[in-house]
Amino acid sequence: MSAQPTHPLRIGICGLGTVAQGVLQVLRENRESIRARAGRDIQVVRVASRTPKPEVDLLGAEFSTDLATITEDDSLDVVIELIGGETAALHLVRDQLTRGRAVVTANKAILATHGDELIELVRTHGGLLAFEAAVAGGIPIIDTLTRSLAANRIRWLAGIINGTCNYILTAMTGQGKPFDQALAEAQKLGYAEADPTFDVEGIDAAHKLTVLGALAFQIGYRFRDVYTEGISDISVEDIQYARELGYRIKHLGIARMTPAGVQMRVHPALIPETELLASVDGVMNAVLVNGNAAGDTLYYGAGAGALPTASSVVADVIEFARGQKPYLPALVSDNEIRVLPIEEVTSGYYLKIPSLDKPGVFARVATILSEHDISIEAAIQKEQAVHTETQEAWVPIIILTEPVQESVMNAAIAEVQQLPAIVGEIRRIRVELLGDD
Ligand SMILES: NC(=O)c1ccc[n+]([C@@H]2O[C@H](COP(=O)([O-])OP(=O)(O)OC[C@H]3O[C@@H](n4cnc5c(N)ncnc54)[C@H](OP(=O)(O)O)[C@@H]3O)[C@@H](O)[C@H]2O)c1
Repeated sequence: MSAQPTHPLRIGICGLGTVAQGVLQVLRENRESIRARAGRDIQVVRVASRTPKPEVDLLGAEFSTDLATITEDDSLDVVIELIGGETAALHLVRDQLTRGRAVVTANKAILATHGDELIELVRTHGGLLAFEAAVAGGIPIIDTLTRSLAANRIRWLAGIINGTCNYILTAMTGQGKPFDQALAEAQKLGYAEADPTFDVEGIDAAHKLTVLGALAFQIGYRFRDVYTEGISDISVEDIQYARELGYRIKHLGIARMTPAGVQMRVHPALIPETELLASVDGVMNAVLVNGNAAGDTLYYGAGAGALPTASSVVADVIEFARGQKPYLPALVSDNEIRVLPIEEVTSGYYLKIPSLDKPGVFARVATILSEHDISIEAAIQKEQAVHTETQEAWVPIIILTEPVQESVMNAAIAEVQQLPAIVGEIRRIRVELLGDD
């Protein structure tokens, strides 16, 4: 074993926003314990960002608005990319890895879309890349998948990996707030961006699931293959019906290995209220991992925020300071493994079918489902009718089905939708039992 260096580890931080300020705070407040764990000092030599922030304690680092003061400084041991976004950050990380340098990033977007290329640059040029903070903020899920569970074949994982979605769904569930109101509240509290699309349409979760899938199954970074659905169509009524049936609606990222290929999907799902994941509320994140040796293990914590995210960033820096070799280049991906299209995925379904309040409609719907070999597990038929614009009375028929392949469900829904008694679009939400298939 080679001796660990004892000179201070010299770092440069790109960006001076939420996470970068958290990193400076953690390095300042935990200086002694970090030094003890790292085996040497960690010295912030340079900080570069678009806007100077004189109020921030830079721990003696030199500040510049020019990122090149960091990227061109060969005396730095580690470059931390915390500018976010895709273009400039990708350019920066690519450039640094091409020079064989050590990079820490929290940027799931560039990993999800260019992870294979970046890992290849690490292999080719001998640099280092670490990104514990890129998924689920303060939860050490990257280290868990690559190190702690390394002895396992991962069978599946399911996570609540977007705090904004979880906050909104929790507010809709607990206080009966409609989506728009819950979103506005999340924005007011700083849990959602002014443009919430990335979060509420599932793109951020899909970025994170891409990273988790790459590490769990060595399939490479296949963001383009992740099926992605957000929560903007979920109604308070859906949440209430789900509760009557004993379920909660959560926005999940699911990666599952099956004999036919890997499922990679992000969407709202009903999960049994008895599952631990069902009680993960507010902005909290959690990831449930099933390995063939360890069985189910669950990781819970803050998925974002300055200090939780900084905790993960600084942990990566400490690993470098200790002289640990990173795990990534050893993970050879098999890009031949098929990611299943959503039509080939099997799950249970919650169906909300708006139908005229007439006898025989439920029986007709049940017959069509049965003709498609779809079994009904539970049903609710509301007696209180709602009125259409033409004043005809209609009721939602709520059905929970046994697991069935999505293509079969699509065909059955299309047929039911054609019935003259159906007065609106049939709503469907997948049901996840979070067990083995
Ligand atoms: N915030 C979280 O809780 C969290 C959690 C997990 C992961 N992450 C990831 O961590 C990264 C940083 O997030 P953040 O929340 O800290 O973002 P942020 O608050 O927006 O900070 C970004 C910083 O980078 C600077 N910057 C942006 N583009 C730049 C450019 N082209 N050149 C120079 N400086 C530039 C910004 O300058 P200005 O000050 O002028 O805007 C700002 O100081 C992102 O990849 C994000 O996805 C964040």
